[in-house]
Amino acid sequence: MYEVKIIGTGSYAPSNVVTNDDIAQFVDTSDKWISDRTGIKERRISKDEDTSVLSTKAAKLALENANVNPKDIDLIILATATPDYFIPSTACIIQEELGAVNATCFDISAACTGFIYGVNIATQFIKTGQSKTALVIGAEVLSKIVDWDDRNTCILFGDGAGAAILQRSDEKGIISVYTGSDGSGGEHLECPAVPLNNKFSGEEKSNDNIVSMNGREIFKFATKIMPKCIDEVLKNTEYNLEDIKYIVPHQANTRIIEYVAKKLNIDLNKFYMNLDRYGNTSGGSIPIALDEMVQKGLLNKGDKIILVGFGGGLTFGAELIEWRI
Ligand code: UT7
Repeated sequence: MYEVKIIGTGSYAPSNVVTNDDIAQFVDTSDKWISDRTGIKERRISKDEDTSVLSTKAAKLALENANVNPKDIDLIILATATPDYFIPSTACIIQEELGAVNATCFDISAACTGFIYGVNIATQFIKTGQSKTALVIGAEVLSKIVDWDDRNTCILFGDGAGAAILQRSDEKGIISVYTGSDGSGGEHLECPAVPLNNKFSGEEKSNDNIVSMNGREIFKFATKIMPKCIDEVLKNTEYNLEDIKYIVPHQANTRIIEYVAKKLNIDLNKFYMNLDRYGNTSGGSIPIALDEMVQKGLLNKGDKIILVGFGGGLTFGAELIEWRI
């Protein structure tokens, strides 16, 4: 088995900034309510760039930072709940844009845990020798499936993309992975796909592709599962929480992260947060945060970090990583 490390990251978000006050213009909410309950101040909302465009821009930066030629990428995994099309996969569109002609490409669906799942899949491909250099992207244009009249959800989400290049290595970069799913909670965060309408199916069903969410249930789930993921990913390793420099959580709600920090008795400063500026970008949230940390120079060779996420599905997971750049 080969070892796997991250050799570069990149991210991109649309330039259009939408503040809480902007949203308060069309739904009954306020900057105070949104800030107090979520920590979000503003988010980026795409005017004309779909998921493949955001992804390609993030991927180009990751390739540049990793000093990798697109032709050397042999695997592209896009984690998204908001693809451009059902067919082709958005990963194939990104391949074409990048000129990554030697890659096998596919999308995965794990909502906000998508990047964690994607890194896990790429790690398995590389460990077994199937792949040598993989591009993993988490990207969303959630604004196209958000109900802009629903104040319970439209205040939360933003658009953006983050990418990482993973490569075969002698050094262990991905130290351990823990993932799971709980389909029994799927109804708490939903966006229907195309309904079953055909010549044989009887009464026509309406085509309603918008997000609905039971925020309280997701909140309860998040505060239960995040500490478990962090515990599990450290289990059977030589590391404990004191060895971890940063935890990069899914950027959903400051109160969720504060709760997790308290429950595990971890200094809140260990959790990297940028949700005040991006909102919840679902699959994009963890890789955007990770890339921002790299750009700020927060990560040094040898640092141990944990990526941890939860989301619709329900899905959850964490990765313990040694930074090798
Ligand atoms: O990636 C995973 C995505 N999802 C999540 O992470 C969601 C997790 N859940 C949450 O973050 C929180 O549950 C929310 C931020 C969504 C909601 O916060 P909450 O403290 O759980 O509020 P609530 O749903 O219990 O609602 C409290 C009140 C309600 O009014 P009443 O019934 O008490 O009169 C809501 O109607 O707040 C009202 N409310 C709002 N008021 C102003 C709900 N949304 C808004 C709003 N502005 N945007």
